[in-house]
Amino acid sequence: MYTKIKNKTLGTKKSIAIITPGGDAPGMNAAIRAVVRSALDRNMEICGIMRGYDGLLEKDFIRLYARSVSGILHHGGTILKSSRSSEIRNEEAIKRAAYILKEKDIHALIVIGGDGSIHAAHRISRYGVGVVGVPASIDNDIYGTDETIGYDTTLDTVVDAVDKIRDTASSFDRIFVVEVMGRSHGYLALDAALACGAEFVVIPEIKISLHRLAAEIKKERSRAKTSVIIIFAEGAGSSAEFATRLSKLSGYETRVSTLGYIQRGGAPTGRTRILAARFAERAIELVRTNRLNRLVGIKNGQITDIPISDIINRTKPIDLKLYKLIERLGR
Ligand code: F6P
Repeated sequence: MYTKIKNKTLGTKKSIAIITPGGDAPGMNAAIRAVVRSALDRNMEICGIMRGYDGLLEKDFIRLYARSVSGILHHGGTILKSSRSSEIRNEEAIKRAAYILKEKDIHALIVIGGDGSIHAAHRISRYGVGVVGVPASIDNDIYGTDETIGYDTTLDTVVDAVDKIRDTASSFDRIFVVEVMGRSHGYLALDAALACGAEFVVIPEIKISLHRLAAEIKKERSRAKTSVIIIFAEGAGSSAEFATRLSKLSGYETRVSTLGYIQRGGAPTGRTRILAARFAERAIELVRTNRLNRLVGIKNGQITDIPISDIINRTKPIDLKLYKLIERLGR
């Protein structure tokens, strides 16, 4: 089904390439399927680039057909595979990537990925290759979109895991620090804390005092609250150190559970699949109408697109109202 392609083998039709670099997210396959089928439906040719930006620099291209993407919609991961390319950080590699895409007559590169991957695509576009960004990340940390492909699935995975941890936390009257992913931001931690009824949340964006936290836990205990769940975002520091210090200050037994890579896998939820299909449709429409170097997104339920340059060096704001709500509902 997959055919390796050599230089200039694509015909005279508009040719596009699709790539899934960086951290994978559930729903990437759903997005690949939708991009491929929408492109073919608009009479475009499409190829996939294997192993993210490393594969691009090694010219690892495959031709994709409607049947190449059969049976992948419900699977996590990415059939195109991925890599964390350190090479693509260099300007020389960016230039070479653009050259390779031109050499293969690629009219537009569709990048399904996170912040760093879309940033690299923007740099490639400066060398005259059209790009379209499709946000996919379990972190939901991309400026310009309310939601990313995969986020809803990951949130469900976290909720399911924390519900189970709550069972054992209640049996032992323990404090649990549950570490969730989010390298630099606390979007996932905030939503997970609200959805799980966590008593506290620790995120990189908000500094908290351990003394105050320990005092609050003691107060809650005196009000007959038994288990305490603290959702801790990976980017907020070491959850193990945090738990040790909290245990000393509060005098309560504390356990840490790091959810880790289960958060990145699994079958995409219906919502993630629908988002993938809607993003893909817009991405192909942008290519068809030659509106390139744009990022697809969703705002208040509507599919949007904005110049990728608008998102560079911008951070999506944290919803402080959520933080306050977690505090109120968890007491
Ligand atoms: O970018 C998504 C993410 O899952 C982050 O939340 C996490 O910090 C990171 O990727 C882990 O990256 P790697 O796959 O390189 O270990």
